[in-house]
Amino acid sequence: MPGPTAESAEPVGRARTLAQVYRHFGEVDAAGTSPLYKRVAVALSESREALRAIEAAPARKRHPTVILAALHDLALAGRAPALAAAYAAADGDAAADAAIDTLLRMTDPVVAIAERRRTRAGETGRCAVLYPAIAEAARRAGADAVGLIDVGCSAGLNLNVDRVGITYSNGQSLGDPSSPVQLTASIVSSRPIPARAMPGVVARIGVDLDPVDVTDADDARWLRACLWPGQPERAARLEAEMALAATTPPLLLRGDAVEVLPDAFARVPADALPVVTTTWTLSQFTLERRLRFLHRLDEAAAGRAVAWVSAEGVGVAPAIPTLGDRRASGHSIIGLAVLDQSALSAEAIGRCWSRGRLLAWLADS
Ligand SMILES: C[S@@+](CC[C@H](N)C(=O)[O-])C[C@H]1O[C@@H](n2cnc3c(N)ncnc32)[C@H](O)[C@@H]1O
Repeated sequence: MPGPTAESAEPVGRARTLAQVYRHFGEVDAAGTSPLYKRVAVALSESREALRAIEAAPARKRHPTVILAALHDLALAGRAPALAAAYAAADGDAAADAAIDTLLRMTDPVVAIAERRRTRAGETGRCAVLYPAIAEAARRAGADAVGLIDVGCSAGLNLNVDRVGITYSNGQSLGDPSSPVQLTASIVSSRPIPARAMPGVVARIGVDLDPVDVTDADDARWLRACLWPGQPERAARLEAEMALAATTPPLLLRGDAVEVLPDAFARVPADALPVVTTTWTLSQFTLERRLRFLHRLDEAAAGRAVAWVSAEGVGVAPAIPTLGDRRASGHSIIGLAVLDQSALSAEAIGRCWSRGRLLAWLADS
């Protein structure tokens, strides 16, 4: 059973205690999405022993999404059977008890997983934005083939952008209608998205400080662990996405994007347009690193045309106009830059919300 009500003495963030962080996560963040996580997070917030165990992790790794994913990973690995059974049965009380028990018995493994891993979104929803933008990049550069380089690729699911089917709320569709991965997105502008198909993809390259390899059992389990339990539709879509990715695994390059990009460009055949994509990645770069990233694109463009498609918060992607939108306003700008020799043409071609689930297309095409 959860222990007595406890307020950890250690503040997290702006004077919020760990107990408050877990209670807020349960009652606000998880409440509408995962009743199981709501129950577990609130129980953890009320257990002095559990909070003490969480404090064994470095401060930046104590967040509920990290610790709950680490516990979920142990459950999926067969190392916390009571927790796995409680999640499978959608039994919130049993899950709360089992989560606390697992945390207390297996504090070291939980902390080790939290330290080693980053939480992952594992979603191809971004493809609804990327597909028309990459097709538009190819049109502008006059390319018949593209080589995709996804920077901050995580598990590289964006690199299957041409192999999923996308249906938009205005009746348009793009991609492969027979793909096992079918996505939907809402268009919130009167302007339709371009109906053009993407040219053939001749290279799929992912760049990340810590890429996730869907063909590796531990990495694949971690992607599953990052999903909140009790969401069968999302779990089924992730399985389909991972299975699709595993049929044509991308080339994953580990390292800092600024250092690795020249190697990535070199791997795109000369007759294809390299299209670099970044989705909600550049906010993790300092401003200086963002500018060096742009410089890398410019260097590559000395010898061939290069395109960059971005979906980033307002003002995050260097050179991409902000359309006068406020920074941190909740939506993101879809950017398209084509670099050729010394010429850079950068445009905001749309806005999107909810990581691409809603989008407004702005560009003439
Ligand atoms: C917030 S995640 C976004 C992942 C993915 N693009 C998406 O849309 O969900 C940022 C990713 O960028 C990676 N990353 C952060 N800094 C990086 C760098 N300097 N070079 C390469 N990858 C980096 C992280 O490891 C992480 O996978």
